[in-house]
Amino acid sequence: MIDELYKDDRLTAETLTAALGETAPMTMVLKTVDSTNNEAKRLLAAGRNVPTVIAAERQTAGRGRLGRSFYSPEATGAYFSILYPLTTPVAGAVSVTGACAVAVMRAIRHLTGIQTSVKWVNDLYLNGKKVCGILAEALTMKDHACLIVGIGINLSTVDFPTELSAKAGSLGTHIRRAELIARVWRELKPFLEAPDDRSWLNDYRASSCVIGKPIEWTRGGETIAGVAVGINDDGELEVETDRGARDVLRTGEISVKVI
Ligand code: BTN
Repeated sequence: MIDELYKDDRLTAETLTAALGETAPMTMVLKTVDSTNNEAKRLLAAGRNVPTVIAAERQTAGRGRLGRSFYSPEATGAYFSILYPLTTPVAGAVSVTGACAVAVMRAIRHLTGIQTSVKWVNDLYLNGKKVCGILAEALTMKDHACLIVGIGINLSTVDFPTELSAKAGSLGTHIRRAELIARVWRELKPFLEAPDDRSWLNDYRASSCVIGKPIEWTRGGETIAGVAVGINDDGELEVETDRGARDVLRTGEISVKVI
């Protein structure tokens, strides 16, 4: 049920296109979808090759990194994907993952004044709870490559399933979702257009909630303890194990836990 709080917050193709203004990519707004990333893939398979923002009121099978799910109840969060055909090789775009986190963080700060922090690779946290997850997928088609950046921001969700309630939180404020999505697009577009531009790294490092902290990471079934010591110019996490060995964690199949 969409209650009174959200009566100003109509997320439709019209409100989204209006909020996107002159920079508008194509838009698609759905009431219910399994996953906006899945919908982006279906569009891609059907031949879509122009930037497109796909948003939904709710997702029935929202997906996260490492095969996890993303809880996406009706209207209390912004759930959307940006489909972006690449003009550069996929490899160059991989480092854009961190840029996505910076773009969302800046958009939230611009619209609410709330400063979130980034847990490497690209989860956003507020008061020790995850309020935003980002799932970036790179796909190579026959004649071009494409990036699908899926973003889920919990705005006012309170009823998290028991297994999530210790970890998941919300911004605790309700922003008009069309404006939020449009702001994220504006912040992210320059990085998508110039994946070699690493100017986002300053904000990325400055708002990290991992650097200097004891962490555990799991790679290939093995859990290793150490400290996060920095983020290099490729957005990778530099760590030192408790045994004094230096290592670099690249994105992918690694999960990091602040302990
Ligand atoms: C994570 O927490 O590991 C990433 C979560 C990403 C969730 C967003 S919601 C919109 C888009 N559609 C999905 O199925 N996932 C992303």
